[in-house]
Amino acid sequence: MSFYTLAVYCATVFVLVAAQDLELPVQTCKRDASDYTSCLRLAMQEAWPTFIAGIPELDMAPLDPYFLEYQNTVYETGDLRADITVKNVNIYGLAKINFLAVRPHHSDDSFHLEVDLELPKMLIEGNFKAEGAYGVLTIGGEGFFNISLEDIKDTWSIEGPVASDRWTIEHFRLNPEIGKMEVWFSDMFNGNEQLNSMALKFINENWPSLYREMLPFLSQNLDNYLTETANRLMSKISFSKTFP
Ligand SMILES: *[C@@H]1O[C@H](CO)[C@@H](O)[C@H](O)[C@H]1NC(C)=O
Repeated sequence: MSFYTLAVYCATVFVLVAAQDLELPVQTCKRDASDYTSCLRLAMQEAWPTFIAGIPELDMAPLDPYFLEYQNTVYETGDLRADITVKNVNIYGLAKINFLAVRPHHSDDSFHLEVDLELPKMLIEGNFKAEGAYGVLTIGGEGFFNISLEDIKDTWSIEGPVASDRWTIEHFRLNPEIGKMEVWFSDMFNGNEQLNSMALKFINENWPSLYREMLPFLSQNLDNYLTETANRLMSKISFSKTFP
């Protein structure tokens, strides 16, 4: 075999493998069955530990803890303008998700899945670097942060067109309601410890309104991130075999 033939052969094998319809390790549910909705809920709940552990064959990282290497965000909501970079972030708690209800909406050329869920606790911790302003206060600093969340209720809304046996997700929306939140960061005011502890006190006393103010912005960013992440998976998955 010449080198050229070998190269063509290898490329062909690669394309065949890449184009294979992979399947999710999930119990499937028949769309026309009378128990379709409850079947899907149970299938998600039962498959969840497999997703949590990560699925190397599908290039899926473990979800608990979920590791985020780097993320830069420019916030502009209300009085807050801040350029925040987080690094080496670990998110703990997703393993304990309890799926409450699933609402599938199939149409000829699209699919919309709504999922109600709750989870008792999350902890997010990592490194950050920030600069900006809150009203007239200058923000700046770097160090460690953590955020603990409790009693989280959420509805995922995942939707997009289906074509050529692929579901292309256009939106992956979250709208988390949070029962309790506690925020900590080491230095957000260029070494001014007094200002930093005042800011933490203010945030932890007023988090419900601050969170409400930031939620639309956070949701939009999460939508972009989750849509991209989910599409990396769904682009390898046969839609008709996953949702027969
Ligand atoms: C966040 O970090 C601080 C400082 O290390 C620590 O005192 C606090 O217990 C941490 N919070 C959580 C919820 O882990």
